[in-house]
Amino acid sequence: MSDKPYQDKAVIVTGASSGIGRALALRLADQGAWITLAARDAARLAVLAEECRQRGGKAIAVPTGVTGEAQCKALIERAVAEFGRLDVLINNAGIGATGLLEELPDLTLFKRVMDVNFYGVVYCTYYAVKHLKQTQGRIVNISSLGGKSPLPYNSNYNASKYAVHGFSDSVRMELAQAGVSVTLICPYWVVTEFHERLMDKDGTPRGPQGRAIYSEKTMTADQCAATTLKAAARRKREVLMGPGWLTVWLRIIAPGLVDKITIEMVLKPLVRRAEKTQSKE
Ligand SMILES: NC(=O)c1ccc[n+]([C@@H]2O[C@H](COP(=O)([O-])OP(=O)(O)OC[C@H]3O[C@@H](n4cnc5c(N)ncnc54)[C@H](OP(=O)(O)O)[C@@H]3O)[C@@H](O)[C@H]2O)c1
Repeated sequence: MSDKPYQDKAVIVTGASSGIGRALALRLADQGAWITLAARDAARLAVLAEECRQRGGKAIAVPTGVTGEAQCKALIERAVAEFGRLDVLINNAGIGATGLLEELPDLTLFKRVMDVNFYGVVYCTYYAVKHLKQTQGRIVNISSLGGKSPLPYNSNYNASKYAVHGFSDSVRMELAQAGVSVTLICPYWVVTEFHERLMDKDGTPRGPQGRAIYSEKTMTADQCAATTLKAAARRKREVLMGPGWLTVWLRIIAPGLVDKITIEMVLKPLVRRAEKTQSKE
């Protein structure tokens, strides 16, 4: 494999304005890729595009909300119009919300998570496929270990990522003959803005205290980006990060036991913490 597999490759990155998406864009720029940066925050994208150009890549910023099908279509068309081809689509934009299903005031938040994490992937992929077939390109879906081994208190997020897995595994077979690969990336915790933005059942972001779960050992966005780009270059099916293999393997051989342990070690403490917070308010 070349040491710069993305040189002169046209790549779209959704969710590029922060975290893993931003780190992917910078690494792609270092290799001389032609990058289309998508997210809602136009100002951040413009700054990032300039940074990518300074690092040796070509870059355009295309402000896009991935919950809008028409916006996703326009994103793909704009990227192909600018660079004349599409080699890689990285579906990375994502959000999350926590809380017990029964405590959600209604299902608006649940649907919002599905819209961003699942339908955003579907829309972009649908409009990109015909271009990716021309280049024997690559689809990279940034999922989560939550798409392989779910946690309680996260049903919306887990459901959205499981949906991404089913979609990816199906589309991979459909596109195999055309030479288009689909790589699923399943990170454990990564230091980004994700946990600050993580919403409670009312849609309120956790804010800076969301970062309390990170330690010095937590994977950085750059490390995650490096592993992702290497895996996609090699057309790997799936990458499990952190304790991925262990949790997935345990869930296959003893799902009931894993449920019991998870209820004791994850669900009950979360519920107790939420009750304590509520009683203070
Ligand atoms: N961090 C972790 O621990 C972790 C673990 C496993 C999986 N992941 C996955 O990694 C991916 C990237 O997340 P991250 O950790 O880098 O979090 P992040 O720093 O919060 O970045 C999320 C990105 O998604 C974009 N986004 C959110 N809603 C959007 C929408 N409606 N339309 C377009 N873009 C939207 C955000 O940009 P705008 O706000 O500007 O739109 C931002 O660029 C997500 O799919 C997440 O599920 C993260």
